[in-house]
Amino acid sequence: MIEPIKNIKNAFELTGKNALITGGNRGLGFGIAAAMAESGANIAILCRDTSKAAEAISALKKFDGKYESFSCDVSDLKDVRKSVREVYNSFSNIDILVNNAGISCVSELLDMDEELSDWYNVVNVDLNGTVHMTYEVGKRMRDAGKGGSIINITSNAAFIVNKSQAMSPYSSAKAAANHFTRCMAVELGKYDIRVNAIAPGFTNSELSKHIPEDQFDYIINQMPARRFGEPIEVGAMAVYLASQASAQVTGTVQVIDGGYMLSC
Ligand SMILES: NC(=O)c1ccc[n+]([C@@H]2O[C@H](COP(=O)([O-])OP(=O)(O)OC[C@H]3O[C@@H](n4cnc5c(N)ncnc54)[C@H](OP(=O)(O)O)[C@@H]3O)[C@@H](O)[C@H]2O)c1
Repeated sequence: MIEPIKNIKNAFELTGKNALITGGNRGLGFGIAAAMAESGANIAILCRDTSKAAEAISALKKFDGKYESFSCDVSDLKDVRKSVREVYNSFSNIDILVNNAGISCVSELLDMDEELSDWYNVVNVDLNGTVHMTYEVGKRMRDAGKGGSIINITSNAAFIVNKSQAMSPYSSAKAAANHFTRCMAVELGKYDIRVNAIAPGFTNSELSKHIPEDQFDYIINQMPARRFGEPIEVGAMAVYLASQASAQVTGTVQVIDGGYMLSC
């Protein structure tokens, strides 16, 4: 059982916790890494682009913790197994896993190539990558007996169909990741491991830079918040879900999209 907080002071602290963040080298993943580092956590980043990872690690050094990056393609189970072993060799325990690595594509199903490459590429990273990491880290969290928090970064695209940009692999993978979150909350609850998802909407990053200007204006006009989100705002929600403040929260999908889904 996870004990409730007694008061609000320090309820969001992550001091002494070790967080493993996939895709923590840039975009939302880096926002989450920075927010958690500022809240006291040590950070392990898993990603493919090692030079961007080195930049991220050096930016985190202004906080006072241990920060390291590890090369990994989350779509490849063998690579995940190897990288997670390396992370544990260095960090000994992981308290927080953030499955953030993700890719997208804009393509209608019937226009895809004969191999359905777009479909498999996206599902292999966005859904299977999350499953691979949860399997490898979840087993170690269970065996360590200290509980943990797993946070899956999905998308509001899991709930809606974006007419202007056909993204069935992305939306379907993210919807499946939301339900995987609920299944894992039930399966891992007995080990005091909480599992939640964050479903961001349009947030400033490389991924969202490719939106054409006319669509950008449409999006902004639909949003009650009238702006794109910032990675640090997703980081704030991740800090909450990782911390003792959310001890009673599991199996949820937290939408952070400036209200976009209310009127799109
Ligand atoms: N930006 C948005 O508007 C938005 C909205 C909703 C949801 N999201 C979700 O938020 C997450 C982060 O997106 P972002 O906007 O920050 O995207 P981004 O700037 O394009 O970054 C994507 C991250 O995922 C990592 N990654 C991709 N494929 C990988 C693989 N096979 N193995 C390991 N790492 C891999 C990348 O690492 P490398 O640099 O090593 O390739 C990078 O760190 C994604 O899950 C995305 O679906 C974003």
